[in-house]
Amino acid sequence: MQIIDLDESHLNSYFCCLEDWSNDMLETGDHKQRWYRHMQDKGLRVKLAIEDGLACGMIQYLPIEHSIVKGQDLYFIHCIWVHGHKQGVGNRQKRGMGTALLRAAEADARMRGAKGMAAWGLWLPFWMKASWFKKQGFEKVERDGIAQLLWKPFCPDAQPPAWMKKTQDPVRIPGKVRVTAFISGWCQAQNMVFERAKRASQTFGDRVYFEQIDTLDRAVLDQWGIADGLFIDGKQVWTGPPPSYEKILKKIEKRVKKLKT
Ligand SMILES: CC(C)(COP(=O)(O)OP(=O)(O)OC[C@H]1O[C@@H](n2cnc3c(N)ncnc32)[C@H](O)[C@@H]1OP(=O)(O)O)[C@@H](O)C(=O)NCCC(=O)NCCS
Repeated sequence: MQIIDLDESHLNSYFCCLEDWSNDMLETGDHKQRWYRHMQDKGLRVKLAIEDGLACGMIQYLPIEHSIVKGQDLYFIHCIWVHGHKQGVGNRQKRGMGTALLRAAEADARMRGAKGMAAWGLWLPFWMKASWFKKQGFEKVERDGIAQLLWKPFCPDAQPPAWMKKTQDPVRIPGKVRVTAFISGWCQAQNMVFERAKRASQTFGDRVYFEQIDTLDRAVLDQWGIADGLFIDGKQVWTGPPPSYEKILKKIEKRVKKLKT
C-alpha cells in the first residue's frame, strides 16, 4: 500500500468518494468539483491510499481558516474515508490504511508549519467515528448534537478550534413553501441532498420557493453559520445519511398540502 498526493489520473475517483460504481454519485451535480477548484488555491490537500493500483482510501484537509469550523493555524480534516462497501474496490477497512493516511496528513501539516490538526466525528458508532480519532491521539473540544469536534495540538501555543454556530433560521414565506438548501460543496452526501431537494421542489411549480445558499462564499458562511443543510419552512431536515429523493419529495408535499388555496 502506498500513500500518494491526489493526481490527475485519480481525480474522477476522488470526485465520487472512490465509489465509481455508485449510481447515487450521478445525482451530486458539480459542486464537489467547484469546491475543489476553489480550495486548491487556499491550501487544500488530498492524499490517497493506493493498493493493487487502485485508490482505496482518501483524506482531505485544509487550513482551518477556509474550512467549515473556526480556528487558526491548524489544518482541518473534512473527511477521511477508506472504502468499505462490497462493490468497486471492496472493503479495505481495518487493515491500517486509515492510520497510514492520517499519519501522512499529520506529517504534511507539521511540515507546512501547522500548530495542530482538527477533525470532526460522530460519537455514535457509525459514519466518521470520533472514537477512531481519539485512538489516534485526538481530544474532544466540543459537541454539537451527535457530532464532536476534535483536535491534536502539535505545540503548546496552539489554539483549539470551535464549531460555527447557526446565527438564524430561514423564515417562512406566506402562501409558499420555502425550501432552503445550504451548500458548500465539500461533501458528496450533502451535494446529493441538495440536488434531490432542488429537483423535488421544481415539481411543485411556484407553490414552492427553492433557494440555494452558497456557503463556498466565506461571507455567506459567516452570515449564517451553517455550511450544509436543508430546511423546509425554516425547519431543519435530518440529512445524514442522505434521505432518498422520494422522502424529500414527501416532506415538501406535506407542507404544500397545508397551503391555503
Ligand atoms: C475511520 C476509518 C477512516 C478508519 O480506516 P481504517 O483503514 O479502517 O483504519 P485502520 O485499519 O487504520 O484502523 C481501524 C482498526 O483496524 C485495526 N487494524 C489495523 N490494521 C489491522 C490488521 N492488519 N488486522 C486487523 N486489524 C487491524 C486497527 O487496530 C483499528 O482498530 P480499532 O478500531 O480497534 O482502533 C474507516 O473505518 C472509515 O473510512 N470509516 C468510515 C468513515 C466515513 O464515514 N468517512 C466519510 C466521512 S465524510
